[in-house]
Amino acid sequence: MVTVSLLQGDITSQAVDAIVNAANSSLLGGGGVDGAIHRAGGPEILAACRRLRAGALPDGLPTGGAVATTAGRLAARHVIHVVGPVHAPGQDRSHLLRSCYTQALAVADEIGARTVALPAVSAGAYGWPARDAADIALTTVLTAPTSVKEARFVLFDEAMLRVFTEAL
Ligand code: AR6
Repeated sequence: MVTVSLLQGDITSQAVDAIVNAANSSLLGGGGVDGAIHRAGGPEILAACRRLRAGALPDGLPTGGAVATTAGRLAARHVIHVVGPVHAPGQDRSHLLRSCYTQALAVADEIGARTVALPAVSAGAYGWPARDAADIALTTVLTAPTSVKEARFVLFDEAMLRVFTEAL
């Protein structure tokens, strides 16, 4: 069974088997946690993403999907890129957010990752309300069929750590 832990910090410094990136469909970088991961991990990650775009994912990674690359010079061995849904008031897109976490853990299983660090997918630029994002993230990870032993949510600021702690 997966153990969930919560901490405040920068996901790029986590010494785990894999870190999850809140990417966009292009896989070619962006701001937020995505920008931080590419900056800290170096150009190997972008090169791997470009190879995916040239091969298996010509149209990019669909919303709710997950794919692994090298982690470049990060302490982690792999980056698992997911694409969260943009929050759209009046539309229920929560299945896509759940899918990010189930797909990320499925990819972790495929690559043999047992310790995985995760950010609050969609809770930044994509505008998902923090408490709902936390409820979805935690419920999905805690009920997912996976061989991952530790799912470590790494929340960037104190406010998000508090929200996740209350949700847990
Ligand atoms: N470590 C952990 N969490 C972080 C870090 C970090 N280094 N940096 C930011 N966060 P966001 P999204 C938190 O915007 O909402 C990008 O441009 C942040 O405070 O990174 O899924 C992509 O390319 C927030 O709580 O991801 C996409 O275009 C959480 O990570 C788009 O943003 C997610 O915020 C994706 O938006």
